[in-house]
Amino acid sequence: MTTIGTPLSPRATKVMLLGSGELGREVLIALQRLGVETIAVDRYENAPGQQIAHHARTITMSDPDALRALIEAERPDLVVPEIEAIATPALEALEAEGVVRVIPTARAARLTMDREGIRRLAAETLGLQTSPYRFCDSLEELQAAVGDIGYPCVVKPVMSSSGKGQSKIDGPDAVVAAWEYAMSGSRVSNTRIIVEGFVDFDYEITLLTVRARGATGEVETQFCEPIGHRQVSGDYVESWQPHPMSATALERARQIAAAVTADLGGQGIFGVELFVKGDDVWFSEVSPRPHDTGMVTMVTQWQNEFELHARAILGLPVDTTLKSPGASAVIYGGVDAEGVVFDGVDAALQVPRTDIRLFGKPESFVKRRMGVALAYADDVDTARANAVEAAGRVTPRVP
Ligand SMILES: Nc1ncnc2c1ncn2[C@@H]1O[C@H](COP(=O)(O)OP(=O)(O)O)[C@@H](O)[C@H]1O
Ligand SMILES: [Mg+2]
Repeated sequence: MTTIGTPLSPRATKVMLLGSGELGREVLIALQRLGVETIAVDRYENAPGQQIAHHARTITMSDPDALRALIEAERPDLVVPEIEAIATPALEALEAEGVVRVIPTARAARLTMDREGIRRLAAETLGLQTSPYRFCDSLEELQAAVGDIGYPCVVKPVMSSSGKGQSKIDGPDAVVAAWEYAMSGSRVSNTRIIVEGFVDFDYEITLLTVRARGATGEVETQFCEPIGHRQVSGDYVESWQPHPMSATALERARQIAAAVTADLGGQGIFGVELFVKGDDVWFSEVSPRPHDTGMVTMVTQWQNEFELHARAILGLPVDTTLKSPGASAVIYGGVDAEGVVFDGVDAALQVPRTDIRLFGKPESFVKRRMGVALAYADDVDTARANAVEAAGRVTPRVP
């Protein structure tokens, strides 16, 4: 049975978000609508989620002592990681001590923060199809690995996200540059990289997969409609739902997603990234939390991915039904500045059946995601065109 207390009372149900960006902010809103007391943690002040939570805390989340001290002081019922760069061994210890429940599990947070953990689990333990891959700790090892895997291939630091330090190698001349770029983009002073064979896919999808309690109290697995997306330099620029798939490819995609999420366990939503070519499906990676490409569900589903996550982690039932085809398009900062202003919001919303989110980030960078345009329509193509049009009409500028 799920019992929810009154926020700011002694019996409050308290949830702590580790990372309070645009995805965390929507999870916080969904939790607050269910009467949950929220604590938004980030590494900088006035992060998007901190602006709307009951409590805001600013710490270095990769510092195990700082993380433990904060969790022990706040004593939340649930700790919900929103980002990867967290001291996950500290979370595992706190979970083992029974101090806190981590979503979906502390082990899932640890395995997915490092490309090696999740790749070895998927390919070697679960036997799922992935690109061919090798891990390397030096340029010499990379050169040898590229010889085995062949061209083209992709190099990524094992500790990185959003395309940082990631590049494609088309021939022998590009190996040194790829190594140096990876070293500059790694999240921690860790020299390990993965080199993967390039998968010449027809399209890639995110399959949002939810583990939530059903009527019997058992955890059940449900899938959202596939989300198609377009990545530029390893960062998503556009997404849409549903993405058409053959019945065989969809069945394979669901089998892969079910296998990997069952192993990671716990309750919550997962963004399973898959490459598809014809009826063939490759596992790429998984986020044990809402996925950036899933922002489209704010306009396409009765319960968006943030509401699904909030419900699932609280032990409540979920409904993954599609409401309408739709699309999202990212609004980038375009300028490096603090306190930017956004022109053209009115013009953007003149585009039929659109909505926008401005995340409220205190500082803009040229390539920072500052907002998103959302559109729904009778078909995905119209929704995509309208989302892109609306996003393009919003212009951040220095005030
Ligand atoms: N082996 C690969 N073959 C083809 N494309 C790839 C491969 N690995 C990554 N990509 C492309 O780069 C994007 C980002 O890579 P990903 O591994 O998801 O990194 P991140 O953790 O930064 O999202 C993918 O969505 C895909 O478009
Ligand atoms: Mg990815």
